[in-house]
Amino acid sequence: MSRGGPRADRLPDSTLALLAQGYGFLPRRLLQRGRDVAQARLLLQRTILLSGREAARLLYDPDRFVRRGGMPLVVQRTLLGVGGVQSLDGEAFAARKAMFLSFLGPERAPETAELFTTYWRAALVRWQASGRVTLLDEAAEVLCRTACTWAGVPLPEQDVRRRTVDLRALIDCEGDPRLGYARSRLARRRCEAWAARLVDGVRQGALYPGEGTALHTVAGFRGPGGELLDLHTAAVELLNVLRPTVAISRYVVFAALALHGSPQWEERLRDDDEAVLPFVQEVRRYYPFFPAIAARVRTPFRWRGVDFPRGRRVMLDVHGTNHDPRSWESPEEFRPQRFGTGSADAYSFVPQGGGNAATGHRCPGEWVTVEVLAAAVRLLTREMEYAVPPQDLRVSSRRLPTGPRSGFVITGVRALSS
Ligand code: HEM
Repeated sequence: MSRGGPRADRLPDSTLALLAQGYGFLPRRLLQRGRDVAQARLLLQRTILLSGREAARLLYDPDRFVRRGGMPLVVQRTLLGVGGVQSLDGEAFAARKAMFLSFLGPERAPETAELFTTYWRAALVRWQASGRVTLLDEAAEVLCRTACTWAGVPLPEQDVRRRTVDLRALIDCEGDPRLGYARSRLARRRCEAWAARLVDGVRQGALYPGEGTALHTVAGFRGPGGELLDLHTAAVELLNVLRPTVAISRYVVFAALALHGSPQWEERLRDDDEAVLPFVQEVRRYYPFFPAIAARVRTPFRWRGVDFPRGRRVMLDVHGTNHDPRSWESPEEFRPQRFGTGSADAYSFVPQGGGNAATGHRCPGEWVTVEVLAAAVRLLTREMEYAVPPQDLRVSSRRLPTGPRSGFVITGVRALSS
């Protein structure tokens, strides 16, 4: 271990503890012991664990950290893919990130939310007829249709189910972690082959996605040296749009769970549109989703009594930072009104990363996420009635990613005329 700072564990390696404790792993070693920095061995590598606003600010300093090699390979081989924008630094990063922002900027988000609303309304007719619906599955399918149409990706009706299943499998390692990992890797192979065929189709003139769509932009993007992305990297980047859009389904379910738990908010959201954004922001703060952001030390330095040697992996606890009592009053209470005035601090509210999306690695899909979630909240509260039958709604902090165990089942769905 490098000099200074507390050890997180006495264990020689904490990977098993991480698998067993999920979202609880980082908080137990950091904020719950009053620390924003601790050291551990994870995945057989020395790792510095970070939490809280000041640590988040530190992590987004590009003079101190690089992203190359930050995320463990197991995560790159399933969730993220290898060679995408997440692993870039410097000039290559700036060019690639500008590409994402060209089609994901705030001005494009309402378009995605409108598509989402259209597909949701169509699905509502089916849900009404079917009697019993698992919202997580249905929202994922609606979002898969939304993502593909918006990105310029053709999605024949007979492929909707399998593409949804595969895009979900990139993030969901349900059940046994080894089996989940194997499933995710297979899904990644299939998804990358599909996305590469799409990019190739555009380049060969066989596919014509609209100009400015994600598929069109990724296929034609040239890096700082003027070269096109190789097919594999282009596929990874296209999936960097489709996969997380489908993942918004987890937040949709959390929003439904929060509505179920706070009838007074459900009532209020029916006609008070100003309440929608604070509610959505609190859903993103309160519920755990993306567990940690990883990087490696670029230039050695010392912080809070701990040495950060060159090349050392660091991990920022996202959920812990969103629940840090130094930044949030009563962080364990669901209180949308805390977002009532002004925008949230860029380093204490980090569900999709911190800092600035244009100059740093903060998620470029945040505007889309917020608009789509706002649309989901309006649809759930104003355009449909449903019952929530008895089911297991517990959210385990040990599962990554987590959500209500039942997937949030609703029955007796009835569309309300708007
Ligand atoms: C489902 C909700 C979402 C969550 C919880 C989420 C979370 C995150 C987080 C934590 C990061 C890492 C930030 C960092 O490394 O500093 C990230 C990056 C990213 N997200 Fe999202 N995201 C979501 C939705 C989206 C959407 C809808 C898109 C695109 C349509 C998207 C595209 C990306 C991309 C391309 C990156 C890499 C950015 C970079 O490295 O510069 N995300 N996201």
